[in-house]
Amino acid sequence: MGVGIIGTGHYAPDNIVTNKDLEKIVDTTDEWIRSRTGIEERRIAKDDEDSSDMAYKAAKRALEDASIKAEDLDMILVATVTPDTPFPSVACMIQEKLGATNAAAMDVAAACAGFMYGMITAQQFIETKAYKHILVVGVDKLSKITDWTDRNTCVLLGDGAGAVVLGEVSEGKGILSFELGADGSGGEELYQSKEDHLVMNGREVFKFAVRQMPQSCMNVIEKVGLQKEDVDYLVPHQANIRIMEAARNRLDIPEERMAKTIQHYGNNSSASIPIALSESLQNGKINDGDVVVLVGFGGGLTWGAVALRWGK
Ligand code: UT7
Repeated sequence: MGVGIIGTGHYAPDNIVTNKDLEKIVDTTDEWIRSRTGIEERRIAKDDEDSSDMAYKAAKRALEDASIKAEDLDMILVATVTPDTPFPSVACMIQEKLGATNAAAMDVAAACAGFMYGMITAQQFIETKAYKHILVVGVDKLSKITDWTDRNTCVLLGDGAGAVVLGEVSEGKGILSFELGADGSGGEELYQSKEDHLVMNGREVFKFAVRQMPQSCMNVIEKVGLQKEDVDYLVPHQANIRIMEAARNRLDIPEERMAKTIQHYGNNSSASIPIALSESLQNGKINDGDVVVLVGFGGGLTWGAVALRWGK
C-alpha cells in the first residue's frame, strides 16, 4: 500500500488586482514586477472573506474530486499563517462547515512551506494505519498582513486556498520520499511584525531559496534512487519565477513540465503549491504514473519537498 493524493481542489477570490492597479498606490511599475518576479496580477479577498471561507471552498472541491464524504475524513490539517483567529483553528472552523464530524482538526504553521509540512504529517497517520482519509488544506489571506505602503512586499502577495485529500493508493504509487527542514537562525529574514505586517529581506530570502529549492528537489529524488531524468513534472512554490527557474534548471526539465500559476496569483504562501497542483491536473499536465516533485520554502526559515508517483 502507498499513501497518495486521491483528490484536489482550489479556490481563489474573484477580485483581480493588476500590476497597473499597484502602480497607483506604490512607486512601482508593471515592467519591474513582471521582469523581477513573473507576476502580472493577483487575487485579493474582500474584507468579509477570511481564510476559513477560502479553505472551505477548496476543501469542498477536493472532497468531490476524491469522491468521499466529509464524514469519511479522519483528520483535517490546515497549513496557514493567516488564520481567522489564533483559535479556534481554521481546521476546526471548516470541520464544522463541512460536517466532518469524525475528523480531528488542527492548523500547521510553517509559512510558505506549510503545505509540505501538512502533507507529510498526514502521510504518517495513514502509513501507520491510524487514519484512512486526511484533508490537507493550504490557505492564506496574506492581504490582511500586507503593508500596502511597502513596494518591496505588497507587489508579491495574493490570497487563495488549495486542498488535497490523502488516502491509501496502490503499491508503488503515492509519496515516494520527502524532506522537511528548518533554520530558525534565518527567522529575521521573513516574519510578521508587531504591527502585524509581513516584513521581508527579499535579497536574503532569494539567496536562500535559489540554493534550497534545487537542493531539496535533488534530495528527494536521490532518496528513492531516481535521477533527474526520471522527473516528469515539477510543482514549485510560486514565490518568484526566477527562483522557480533555478529549481527547473537543476532538474533540467522543459518549461511546460513545471507548474506556473504565479503570473495570475502572485505568491499565495501555504496555498501556492496545492493551487498549482490542482490547476496542473485540471489542465491535463500530470498523467498516471508520472513522477512529480513538489517543493516549497518559506519564513522560519522552513522548506520541504516531496517526490511522488501520481495515481491511485
Ligand atoms: O514565499 C517566500 C517569500 N518570498 C520570496 O520568495 C521573495 C524572495 N525575494 C525575491 O523574490 C526578490 O528578492 C524580490 C522580488 C523581493 C526583489 O527582487 P530583486 O531583484 O532581489 O531586487 P532587489 O531587492 O535587489 O531590489 C532592486 C531595486 C532596489 O532599488 P535600489 O536599491 O537598487 O535603488 C529596490 O528598492 O528594486 C527596488 N524595488 C522596486 N522597484 C520597483 C524593490 N521593490 C520594487 C518595486 N518596484 N515593487
